[in-house]
Amino acid sequence: MKALVVFDSVSATRMTEKVAKAIAVEIKDQGVESDCFYYKDVNPAVVNSYDCLIVGSPTMAWKPTKEITQFLNGLSNEPHEGKLAAAFDTQVQSRISGNATKAIEGKLVELGFKLVSTPLISYVEGKTNTYQMKEGELEKAKAWATDLAKTLKSG
Ligand SMILES: Cc1cc2nc3c(=O)[nH]c(=O)nc-3n(C[C@H](O)[C@H](O)[C@H](O)COP(=O)(O)O)c2cc1C
Repeated sequence: MKALVVFDSVSATRMTEKVAKAIAVEIKDQGVESDCFYYKDVNPAVVNSYDCLIVGSPTMAWKPTKEITQFLNGLSNEPHEGKLAAAFDTQVQSRISGNATKAIEGKLVELGFKLVSTPLISYVEGKTNTYQMKEGELEKAKAWATDLAKTLKSG
């Protein structure tokens, strides 16, 4: 079992990257091989060499970034049936935040992936380019990754 974490991250403090790395480290600590890459550093052709694809993006204007959406669109030439997937996003905590994970999950399912986890939503606080994770959010991400790794190991 091998998992690939792919993320976009836009602000100076790179919150989504922090969450992505925390997920990848925890998955590995739980005994599941994992790699973690910024979307630009992933050749779409290698995605199929992984059993599980975990995709994350900052929520921007209620959606994932254009770049991570384009990355997902770029996977459409490969067959993904039977492959596993999960989504995560970062966002500010507000009732009008929206969730990038919704569109990411929709795209993953459209591509043939099977979702194996509820989405992870990680809250940030502060202002653009000085965002920090809200207290407890990295621990929440770690716990989410522990559960995901357990699911991957049991399959
Ligand atoms: C142009 C712009 C649009 C944003 N739109 C949303 C939004 O719709 N909902 C939300 O919760 N946060 C929104 N945010 C806050 C981002 O979610 C936040 O910048 C992100 O979590 C930071 O992640 P990053 O450091 O990985 O880029 C927006 C931020 C920017 C700069």
